[in-house]
This record gives sequence, structure tokens and C-alpha cells, in this order.
Amino acid sequence: MGDPHRVEEIIKTMQKAGTSTIQVISDFDMTLTRFAYNGKRCPTSHNILDNSKLISEECKAQLKDLLNIYYPIEIDSKRTAKEKLPLMVEWWTKAHTLLVQQRIRKDLLQDVVRESDAMLRKGYQLFFDHLLEHSIPLLIFSAGLGDVLEEVIRQAGVFHPNVKVFSNYMDFDETGVLKAFKGELIHIYNKREGSLLNTGHFQELKSRHNVLLVGDSLGDLTMADGVHGMENILKIGFLNDKVGYYWLHVHQSSLSHPNKPSTMQKVMFLFLLRS
Ligand code: TMP
Ligand code: MG
Repeated sequence: MGDPHRVEEIIKTMQKAGTSTIQVISDFDMTLTRFAYNGKRCPTSHNILDNSKLISEECKAQLKDLLNIYYPIEIDSKRTAKEKLPLMVEWWTKAHTLLVQQRIRKDLLQDVVRESDAMLRKGYQLFFDHLLEHSIPLLIFSAGLGDVLEEVIRQAGVFHPNVKVFSNYMDFDETGVLKAFKGELIHIYNKREGSLLNTGHFQELKSRHNVLLVGDSLGDLTMADGVHGMENILKIGFLNDKVGYYWLHVHQSSLSHPNKPSTMQKVMFLFLLRS
């Protein structure tokens, strides 16, 4: 926390305003899902499909090559978002083109998710159930694969009616075979709630001016941009990868943190932009 006092103030203000004023906007991969379990990396929604029986060995190798090229760029904090943006669009476009070539069958997605190592983050049940109990909308804003991530939360039993998903959805032909992706591509740098509201999506979020935003990538910081009449926002970031480097970065930018990098791995850093 850059300013613990300010965080406390915002939490108190939001508590006072009450649950009817709050909305939660969350990223999916590596935010609602785990980054690793027992020392082994957990899959993103793309990886669930990439590692599955629906993908040929040749295509798996090509997708892996893409991951090896572009993931280090995604998490490289020395490059600006502007520099990274065209490269991320390139990654998503190439990956989706390869997936479409695989003639993936819609009816097999359930099996693929069931057979995968996908895992929601510890405490997910409490998080999802608590939001439902208080009728707080949860917008999952993901650059991953909507059809796959919906299946992950459905199989975990937490795809409650207050959960809305905005993500990349597959378009299947009349025989149930993937033929394209629907609508505009969502990558890590174009997630903004305002653009959804402008296209008429999720109008019920319009009257909620207090936001809890949860993410794991710098692109997630803009997810609440365009929220109508925002009053308070609390941004929570999961520090998953390159922990030592980020700690240094945070430290250098004078947001000192008493913990050592190793203990920060599963801890979060809280930071606020507006109140
Ligand atoms: P998120 O917005 O739900 O976090 O999803 C984006 C993540 O998906 C991002 O961290 C990179 C990852 N990704 C893959 O793992 N494989 C791919 O082929 C692509 C395009 C993205
Ligand atoms: Mg993520």
C-alpha cells in the first residue's frame, strides 16, 4: 500500500455507502485463477485449450513458440504499454488464427476444462458467494477465452446470476465447429468498462459508483475507465511473476514495503488512483 491511511479511508467510505453502490470488476486469468499450485504453473484459459486433446501436436508447438516469444514481452516492465500494444495484438491474432484452423468442437469444451489443471484462486467460493448474497455485480473482464472461462466458473459452481463476463467468444458453425471469434478482439490493453456501457452492455452497472478492481497485469488498471460518475475506487493487484523485480520497482518508486520479496509472492499490493 502506497498510503495505508488513504486505503482505510476509501474502504470506510465504501462501507458507509453500502453494497448497493458497489461493483466489482475483475480480470480472470491469474487473478481469479491461480498462478501456480504446488510449484507448478496453472493454465490460462488459452492454455487450457492449447494443452488439450483438441489441438494437434504441431499446433501445440506453434502456440508454445508464440507464448515463449510474447509472454516475456507482456510482463516486461521496461517496455511501455504503447510499445507492447501492437505486439500483444499480434500475439492474440496469431493464436486465434491457429485455434480456428483446429476445427474445435463446442461440445468437447466441457471435457477439456474438466480434464485440465484449471484452478480458481484460494477463497474463491467465499468471494463469489458473498457478492451474490449482497447482490453486488461482478464483471469479469478477460482477454482470455470467454467460452472456456465460463466453463471453469460453471464447473466450480460459482457462475451466479450476478456474474457478467466480457471476453473473447468463439463463433461456431451450424455443426458446432469453431469458425471464427466474435466481435472485436479483447487483448490486455483495451479493457475499459466505458466502451462496454457505450455499446449498451451491462447497463445495470451504470448506477454503481464505487468500484473494487482486481487484476494482475498493468493493462488491468484501465478496466474501470469510463465508469459513470465514479466516486471511489480500490485497485488490488496480484503480484504473480517476476516478484523480485517488481519489489525493486515498487521500492524505487518510493512506495516502500516492509516485506521481503519472497513473502510478497502471494500478497497483494494495493494502490489507488482516485477517490
Ligand atoms: P486475462 O485478461 O484474463 O488475464 O487473459 C489474458 C492472459 O492470456 C494473458 O496473461 C496472456 C494469456 N494468453 C495465453 O496464455 N495464451 C495466448 O495464446 C494468448 C493470446 C494469451
Ligand atoms: Mg490476468
